[in-house]
Amino acid sequence: MQLREKLRHFGVIPVITLTQVEDAIPVAQALSDGGLPVAEITFRTPAAAEAIAAVKQALPHMIIGAGTILTLAQLHQARVAGADFMVSPGFDATLIEKSLRMEMPFIPGCATATEIGAAQTLGIDLVKFFPAAAQNAQAVIPAMAGPFPDITYMLTGGIGFGELNAYLSLPNVICCGGSWIAPTVLIDAGNFTEIQENAAATVETITR
Ligand code: 3PG
Repeated sequence: MQLREKLRHFGVIPVITLTQVEDAIPVAQALSDGGLPVAEITFRTPAAAEAIAAVKQALPHMIIGAGTILTLAQLHQARVAGADFMVSPGFDATLIEKSLRMEMPFIPGCATATEIGAAQTLGIDLVKFFPAAAQNAQAVIPAMAGPFPDITYMLTGGIGFGELNAYLSLPNVICCGGSWIAPTVLIDAGNFTEIQENAAATVETITR
């Protein structure tokens, strides 16, 4: 199955930010046990690269993205760590071109028609629309289908259980991402049981 089909199949990508590498495997295990064997581990902390490598080694069935990729150095670290895909909050042509040359799936953040058009020109057909709630994704994403019929979206930013199905019902939306399943406060507290319950509740919520 192609990455895009896997992400569509999961419907939701837990976005996790780890304070310490030691939490990576228990969090990933909790997500997998809850029915979501997928995560985006963000480069917002120095633990990210080591955490990705640890999860890919211990739980190779999991699909692990590297998030908040802002520099070429992070792109390289994430690739070496074994990430399956990269996500960036914004549009950066240098990062996109480099990842395409590496044959590494890259999901750039695009919030405007200008950015979506520029990503399409570079050969991208799956973009991250961020922050989805604050930018009224439910109105904007259907409107983008007119000029950009071949572009699909990962929505993140301000999404929770409540709005999930409304977002997932938009035809050009592949998946939603968010931190509500495994927020850092639960990770730091070692509350992996609640993370597993959140994952299971999310899977249960999805009606698509
Ligand atoms: C992301 O990087 O995708 C977002 O920070 C996730 O957004 P959320 O924390 O509002 O769910």
